[in-house]
Amino acid sequence: MSYQFLSIDRRGPVEYVTLNRPDVRNAFNEHVIAELTAWAKTAHGDPALRAVVFAGAGKVFSAGADAAWMAKMAGCSHDENVRDARAGAEMFLAINTVPAVVIARIHGAALGGGSGLAAVCDIVIAEDAAVFGFTETKLGILPAMISPYVLQKIGASAARELFLTGMRFDAAKAKTIGLVHEVVPLTSLDDRVAKYVDEALSASPAAVARAKALIPRVLGRQPGDVMDITAEAIAAQRVSPEGQEGLTAFLRKRSPSWVRTR
Ligand code: COA
Repeated sequence: MSYQFLSIDRRGPVEYVTLNRPDVRNAFNEHVIAELTAWAKTAHGDPALRAVVFAGAGKVFSAGADAAWMAKMAGCSHDENVRDARAGAEMFLAINTVPAVVIARIHGAALGGGSGLAAVCDIVIAEDAAVFGFTETKLGILPAMISPYVLQKIGASAARELFLTGMRFDAAKAKTIGLVHEVVPLTSLDDRVAKYVDEALSASPAAVARAKALIPRVLGRQPGDVMDITAEAIAAQRVSPEGQEGLTAFLRKRSPSWVRTR
């Protein structure tokens, strides 16, 4: 599939997806949302895909929702507004559940939906000078579609501070609240991302997908209430082909068959 606003660079099991609307700082409109949703659906059906790196072309990662797109929705009916908003919510859900390891490479700024995109990634590596913010309330709108994912990452306390003020914050704070995993100088950003890609390529693809799917099933529930889910998960995985391959490889002091280098 060809895209107008995404540039895709596939290197074996790794896909590099670059938001490519640099003139408006990679802001999302309905067309970007349609392309990202189509990309995510393809990623769901791609068993060879093991790691994804999201990045932004030009000066920043992403300036979030395209203000011009949001403003023009005043010309649409309520039903059309809901339909349009649901398309954005479906995009975040589709990216959030991609079974591969999804990494965000953040430079410059990740604001509004840009910070939301970070929240649906598994691993977020940021340049130390990057600026974050759930700035929507400053523009009179809401961080609505991204809120389920952001809340899971940063919790209610930080969300009350940051959603309600719309204030911008630095990468160090983004790390403190759980939105970002690592903060490095821009000169080290690609190396750090590459290290995580290598880590992803040394983990069992099936175990990665199942571990990722397990998290939302267990999150927020009592240990006793999820015992059936967790017991079933490990019972099935340890006797599966990749479970057996990984355990045997460890015991025989060899590398499992799935280990790849970039
Ligand atoms: N929607 C639409 N256009 C946007 C945009 C957005 N979210 N963010 C930036 N742009 C446009 C600007 O209007 C400007 O257009 P112009 O060249 O026609 O004037 C262009 O992108 C460059 O923006 P500029 O602010 O000059 O770039 P910068 O590199 O100095 O700063 C940002 C980059 C991301 C820090 C800054 O653009 C910004 O703060 N954007 C708003 C982010 C935001 O609050 N997003 C939440 C939206 S709900």
